[in-house]
Amino acid sequence: MSIKTYCYNPKTERTHPRPSQEGNPTRQAVTKAAARAIPLLRGVEGCVIPPWRQQSVQGDGQTRAARSLLFFEAPLQSRRYRFNPINMLEIVKTADGSNTIFNAEVGEHYHSTHGALQESRHVFIQSGLAYFLENNPSANSVSILEVGFGTGLNFLLSADYCTDSKISLDYVGIEAYPLSPGMIRTTGYDQYLSAETWKMFNEKYGQALHSTTEFNPHCKLQIANCKLLDFRSNRQFDLIYFDAFASARQPEMWEEAAIGHTIQFLKSGGVFVTYAITGNLKRALKVLGCRVEKAPGAAGKREMLRAVKIV
Ligand SMILES: C[S@@+](CC[C@H](N)C(=O)[O-])C[C@H]1O[C@@H](n2cnc3c(N)ncnc32)[C@H](O)[C@@H]1O
Repeated sequence: MSIKTYCYNPKTERTHPRPSQEGNPTRQAVTKAAARAIPLLRGVEGCVIPPWRQQSVQGDGQTRAARSLLFFEAPLQSRRYRFNPINMLEIVKTADGSNTIFNAEVGEHYHSTHGALQESRHVFIQSGLAYFLENNPSANSVSILEVGFGTGLNFLLSADYCTDSKISLDYVGIEAYPLSPGMIRTTGYDQYLSAETWKMFNEKYGQALHSTTEFNPHCKLQIANCKLLDFRSNRQFDLIYFDAFASARQPEMWEEAAIGHTIQFLKSGGVFVTYAITGNLKRALKVLGCRVEKAPGAAGKREMLRAVKIV
């Protein structure tokens, strides 16, 4: 297998051969983020840190500008797991002791720094899944669509919750930039889950990126590797977990077009939950035929949003 060195340009969303960018201040800023990410990338599948990059991280100031993007060596045929430098990723511990990922390029964490686990349990499991099941006591199955699958934490907690409640789970996650299996393993989320759920996830994550995958007769997962607006389905779901990056970082995910596209996949009577609440989001959901409720927020946030589709 021949290996070449490439870099990724987030603006064009293309991978290019390594350019020469001496003295570019933006790239110099990126260098710092790359330097922080490098120790964590060692051992991540599809990512080999070249020796000269290691040298520049140790403070070779004269050549730093020329090495300002995080270059990587990866077999390009494995596009799905190709390391995407738009995700310059770093594992970070949050206030409840659970880990999250910091994306240095977006400047955002995958979860609340007040606690990744507590946020996921509060917003998506208690205020979403448990709320839906309480209001639909005869349900013996539930279908969930997640926007922003990321580490899979919301799926994993949902899978265990459904197993304990003897409810079948049919889960679809939309994810534009899937994490590598190696990165997912470093989250340490196994300690919050049943051994069986974690084992199946590790074994079947790759398969779920290609097709609907059975974990067991009561649990299936599909990860749609596309951007939200490119997601197509003729299905409607009982629940939507909306877990995009914050609107300050990725405003297009919170605009009417994105919210409208998402809500078409919600059943009448279905529940939409997200960790944030804004006037624009409330207005958009009302126009789309939803009853909007403020619910108490996860740690660090006063309120979160829940909406029930009534049309
Ligand atoms: C806040 S993080 C999600 C955290 C995730 N739910 C978890 O528990 O790890 C936002 C996710 O949205 C993904 N994303 C960014 N832009 C997207 C898009 N246009 N469509 C779908 N997913 C997107 C990111 O790659 C990231 O995984």
